[in-house]
Amino acid sequence: MGTLNDNHEPENIFTNTLNPLDPEEFRRQGHIIIDFLADYYQNIEKYPVQSQVQPGYLRKRLPESAPYNPESIETILQDVQTDIIPGLTHWQSPNYFAYFPSSGSISGFLGEMLSTGFNVVGFNWIASPAATELENIVMDWLGKMLMLPKSFLFSGGGGGVMQGTTCEAMLCTLTAARDQTLSRIGRESIGKLVVYASDQTHFALKKASQIAGINPMNFRAITTTKSTAFELSPEALRSAILSDVEAGLVPLFLCATVGTTSSTAVDPLGPLCDVAKDYGIWVHVDAAYAGSACICPEFRHFIDGVEGANSFSLNAHKWFFTTLDCCCLWVKDPNALIKALSTDPECLRNKATESKQVVDYKDWQIALSRRFRAMKLWLVLRSYGISNLRNLIRSHVNMAKHFEELIGMDKRFEVAAPRHFAMVCFRVSASAMGKDEKYCSSNELNGKLLESINASGRVYMSHAVIGGVYVIRFAVGATLTNYGHVTMAWKVVQEHADAMLTVLRARRRRQRRVLRLGIVTLKFYDNSAARKTTTAAMGLATWDCDVEVLRQWCDCGSDGSLMVDDDDRPGGQWSVTLTVVTDDVIDDGRGIGCNSIGLSKTSRFRGDLTMGVLCSIQWRCAAMIVVGSIERPAGRTRDYTWIQSLGLMFGSHTFTLEAQKAEKWDNELDHLQFSYDGKTLIIPEGHSSEWNSPENDLKVERTSSKNSVTVTISEVAEMAVNVVPVAEEVDGVLGRTYQPDFKNPAKPGVAMPVVGREDKYRTSSLLSADCGSCVFSPASFLARESSLAMEYGTIDCTSGTGGGYGIVCRR
Ligand SMILES: Cc1ncc(COP(=O)(O)O)c(C=O)c1O
Repeated sequence: MGTLNDNHEPENIFTNTLNPLDPEEFRRQGHIIIDFLADYYQNIEKYPVQSQVQPGYLRKRLPESAPYNPESIETILQDVQTDIIPGLTHWQSPNYFAYFPSSGSISGFLGEMLSTGFNVVGFNWIASPAATELENIVMDWLGKMLMLPKSFLFSGGGGGVMQGTTCEAMLCTLTAARDQTLSRIGRESIGKLVVYASDQTHFALKKASQIAGINPMNFRAITTTKSTAFELSPEALRSAILSDVEAGLVPLFLCATVGTTSSTAVDPLGPLCDVAKDYGIWVHVDAAYAGSACICPEFRHFIDGVEGANSFSLNAHKWFFTTLDCCCLWVKDPNALIKALSTDPECLRNKATESKQVVDYKDWQIALSRRFRAMKLWLVLRSYGISNLRNLIRSHVNMAKHFEELIGMDKRFEVAAPRHFAMVCFRVSASAMGKDEKYCSSNELNGKLLESINASGRVYMSHAVIGGVYVIRFAVGATLTNYGHVTMAWKVVQEHADAMLTVLRARRRRQRRVLRLGIVTLKFYDNSAARKTTTAAMGLATWDCDVEVLRQWCDCGSDGSLMVDDDDRPGGQWSVTLTVVTDDVIDDGRGIGCNSIGLSKTSRFRGDLTMGVLCSIQWRCAAMIVVGSIERPAGRTRDYTWIQSLGLMFGSHTFTLEAQKAEKWDNELDHLQFSYDGKTLIIPEGHSSEWNSPENDLKVERTSSKNSVTVTISEVAEMAVNVVPVAEEVDGVLGRTYQPDFKNPAKPGVAMPVVGREDKYRTSSLLSADCGSCVFSPASFLARESSLAMEYGTIDCTSGTGGGYGIVCRR
């Protein structure tokens, strides 16, 4: 004999047995539960709509095994409050806008109570005649409200059945269609059967097809497009069918959707049924969500054409104030269902069944046992009446319209798909993100936006990806929702979008602080006739920088690129102008001068000037600039100025890059020279040859076997560098200065005169941070970075030089 837990086992188990259905206890505890639920609804807005718990939270809170001794309902409810409610996502919250609603109601709930209270198992008529007959009646009532063709009603030879879910309805109808066709073409041909749907059809159909034994290769999810509002095209359907027929396959089943899950698209039922009819295809209409709206005359047109279909279903547990589960399925030919799903066991035989006067719903569904679902729908229909039900649905549609209008007032957002019912698909538009899209795709941004909205617990929305585009779905339909909730939800969206976009902008600033010397062309000046040959370099550096920072520092409204250019200035002054231009300005053909170095016109010099070109707290870039002619020869339209070498300081490292001097330009030689941390870098010649610094913070890659490299300093600079010979037309003064007989009219030994803030930009060498404006200070950068990391979302680059976070303009 087995032993029970003898520590706790009562001595006489018979005398101590309680009655689990004691009517008085039922009354008492039932009232407690009703009070508990009423309080829950009263307080529902206090809970975060989406549960914020982590996986496994409950196991940590509950005991490892069931209690041996009974516990009171009061104790259990306390645990429901403290342990279960935190793990609930509150589908009945007025701030719930996710997926599709599961609209509750008092009548739906009380109907559920009644049916659960009776707890009958109506697998056939005799098992509980009222359960079956009420279902027949309610299905005809609802069918009439939807103005379904008579052929779908019991009164017209068809009939309705309540399933648990749409997936079951699909499986039952697909099985009926399958068996109908196989009885014609032979069971062995099951592998030839083809199921059609659109790429927007609910995945429940795929599941049903799998279960029904359809070859997965024969499941056609026909592509839809934005241009046709993601509706299934009858032409596309026909062409898919034709190629299947040509391949010897057998078209079986089409699922058309009224109100797709992602965007509530409506497939054109009439034309689709016409195509299906030509090939003897069973058409099922899945109106799981939107079907409810079709009780309103103004929405009934969405199911026009349903008369051509074989079956139709909607989920009353979605948007019809009836508790889960309650999928209403109508079929024109119940016998097709019965043939596929019936069983006739001896134990269930009875006279009523044999009389063929009754419906035995066990033969209309997958399972044998079934719930008395009709009770709750009956209560809903009676308690609210058609008029209230229509008005409730209309009010949801109107609230969704209101939300859509709010979206329309904020230019940053767009409605991403046509709204037909009470669900709005929207997103922050790619155009609103502008250049930020380079740094974060709009899909990514919208995903993050939704995540942060939901994490707030204030509202709950869900998402879909339609045609590759991430959209946020806002479905109105929770019974307690009113306009105030919708307006508040929009505010939450805006607040989170503001925060996200601010962070994104800050991130862009930080990323754009990377110096991009896009086209640095180091020109090699070849003057073989000269006594001395120099290297001359011309630079055109494009540089991504931070608009806000530049505005602050340069007051030039720039965000785009930095060009090193030369320029004839009026007023007798030769100058090198570092022009900072925005992308917009480039498009515009305008440029905005930012940094200028004035060089005296009267100076005749060989032109070496080392200056801090750009400087941030994180890095510093200096260049040796070689200035070309000051007397422009006839016919030459411009002067020449080159960058001969660049020096970068970042963190505790240094890097230089220069065009090596040589007697003569030789294509076969590499004229590039590098150093890292003061040591010469040898980078073997050859395409794709590369060098990485020990800390992997610097990479130099050859882009051709010689004279071309890209240099990447992690998060600091990206440069594409070429060394090319200066064309022979470079003669003039610069050329002459190298002639053996050149006499410099400037006083020997006197430094090149520079006009204009020399104190601020001149530096003693490529790797000295000694120009007047230099703010390079990696240690303070790191300190600043860590404090910024803590101030999430509050990066402010406009706060002046104190932070030293910007680019220094030396105007
Ligand atoms: C259009 C559509 N069809 C089918 C389903 C699946 O419904 P069920 O969960 O009842 O199977 C859904 C669920 O949202 C749906 O939106």
